[in-house]
Order: sequence, then C-alpha cells, then structure tokens
Amino acid sequence: MDKKTMTLGEFIIENQDSFQYTSGELSRLLNGLRLAAKVVNHEVNKAGLVDIIGAAGDTNIQGENQQKLDVMANEKFIQTLSKREIVCGIASEEEDDFISINSFDKQHQNKYIVLIDPLDGSSNIDVNVSVGTIFSIYRRVTPVGTPVTLEDFLQPGRNQVAAGYIVYGTSTMLVYTTGDGVNGFTLNPALGTFYLSHPDMEFPETGKIYSVNEGNYVHFPKGVKDYIKYCQEEEGDRPYISRYIGSLVSDFHRNMIKGGIYLYPKSSKAEEGKLRLLYECNPMAFLAEQANGKASDGFNPIMDIIPKELHQRVPFFCGSKKMVEKAEEFMAAKS
Ligand code: AHG
Ligand code: MN
Ligand code: MN
Repeated sequence: MDKKTMTLGEFIIENQDSFQYTSGELSRLLNGLRLAAKVVNHEVNKAGLVDIIGAAGDTNIQGENQQKLDVMANEKFIQTLSKREIVCGIASEEEDDFISINSFDKQHQNKYIVLIDPLDGSSNIDVNVSVGTIFSIYRRVTPVGTPVTLEDFLQPGRNQVAAGYIVYGTSTMLVYTTGDGVNGFTLNPALGTFYLSHPDMEFPETGKIYSVNEGNYVHFPKGVKDYIKYCQEEEGDRPYISRYIGSLVSDFHRNMIKGGIYLYPKSSKAEEGKLRLLYECNPMAFLAEQANGKASDGFNPIMDIIPKELHQRVPFFCGSKKMVEKAEEFMAAKS
C-alpha cells in the first residue's frame, strides 16, 4: 500500500502488533483520541462564527483565565475517553485533580491513563492563530481492578507508551509516537479522515530557528541570555531566525520540520518556568527524542524527572539535538 494513502485508522491497526503489550486497548484509545480530535477541530474551526470566543469567566488551578474553547475541548476529550471506557484515569491541565474512571461492567479493568492539555496556546484563539491539543499515555502502575491513584499519574516521562499532539492550523494534523518513530496525519476535512502525510518525522540535527518569548529577556538566567546573544551573533550560520507563535504545539511542529530550538526557561518572574511537566513537556520530549531531537530542563533530560505533583512546571529546552546541546553548554557554564 502506498504509505501516503494510508489512513490513521489503518495505520493504528497495522502497527498494533509492533506494540509489546498489544491487546487492542491502546489502539482503541488512539482511536478515541482521533475521534475527539475531529470533534474539537470542528468546534475550533467555527470559533469565529459563534459566540464561543473569550473568557469563560472561570480560572483553572493555575489561576489563569480559562477560555471557552478550553472548557469545551476539555469536556470533549474527557467525554469521549470516559464514555468509551478505554482508560482508567484522566488528568487534564484544566482539572484540579485526576479523574478515576470506572463502569459497572469494567470494574477498573482498563490499563491506560491519559494526561492531556486539551487546548494549548489558547491565548491565540481569538486572533485566529493555530492552537493544539497535547496528550500523553501511560500504563497504570497500581493493580488492575482497583481505582487509580496519584501514583499512576506521577510517572517519569520515560514510562510513556504513547504521546502526541493535534495542531489545528492551516490544516489539522495529528502527530504521535508509540515509541517507534513519529508519524504525522493530515485531516481531509471533506471526508473527516486523517491521512499519513508525514511518515517518519525527524528534527534536522541542527537548524536556524530559535523560539523564545524575548519579552521576558531581562528576567532570564544568565545562561539563557548568553545563548540568545549567541543565536543573534553574526558568525558561521548565525544569526538565527527568531520565530515565536506562543502555541507550544505550533512552535514545536514548525521546528521539527524546519530545524530549530524552543525555549521556555525559568525566569525571575516564574521560578519553575511556565510549561507543565506532565501535560506539555513530557509528551513533547517523548516526540522529540523519537524524532531524533532532544528535550531538557537546561541541564538534564525532561523525561528523567520524577514528578512530584500533577500540575508541576518545569523549564523547557526542546528541538534539534545540536541546538539543545549548545544551549545546555551555556546553561552549564553560567550556573
Ligand atoms: P496553554 O494555552 O495550554 O495555557 O499553554 C500556553 C503555553 C504554550 O503553548 C506557549 O508556548 C506558552 O504558554 C506561551 O507563553 P508566553 O505567552 O508566556 O510566551
Ligand atoms: Mn499548553
Ligand atoms: Mn491549555
């Protein structure tokens, strides 16, 4: 079969056997995410038409304004995954606590948990700029047949069995890994079908793009300031190009295709950084490593961090391997 005519549904089935714990459960879960992605895509695409733009008037646990579409995307993903009884637990950036899922006949028999950032880059919604969804999947560590506990969610990123994102951009794409490379699927909106448009995605080893919110420059640690100056210096293939959308998913997606580095360091304003380890950094780190890239907190691999809390934040340096290593050199020199 010509790989490019393969649909996401076919790809999931075809690759089911290469997954070591195969029982069809992960495939059902990925299919559930595929369905929820289409529903959310439909809502996101009509955002400019109906009165669903703007703050929902509530704040999430991090004290940020929730956008209406944040709330909607959160509900759609949780509904799809819980009603189809394919996971035993869900944690979401938009929920204070994790959700344990059970049904009468299943008796906590499902093995997988999902962590999700239902709408990433939500401050971009009302200006018609790309947003995304990020997901991360683990096997539970507590025994099947019992309710999930916090321990199931506080696993290091290394334990992920799958991770991915959906980018609602000029076209809608679902990009994911189950630990055997990264593949990207583009939605044909007329048919409602995702096709394998980007097989075996890889970060170029190095690149020319750096992505960071430079408005925070004065608050950055010395190592980051020095690295930014290095990016801007005229030497060899530098100065690099600065590109920052403000949607992690979109910035990551562009950098993976073109070659680049994304930085969200800690600053004197945000001592732990801003991005969430479990909903944003771990899944992106898994994708990055599977795509020959790298993800670190400036010093150590993101996926080696042992999480302490659900909504933990962490500094994030991610992208083309050589660029992340160079940034780490600057961090090590100035710490
Ligand atoms: P979210 O919309 O899920 O809260 O995430 C926003 C994140 C990330 O997508 C983005 O890269 C970053 O916040 C942008 O932050 P700044 O506006 O501080 O640059
Ligand atoms: Mn986010
Ligand atoms: Mn979000």
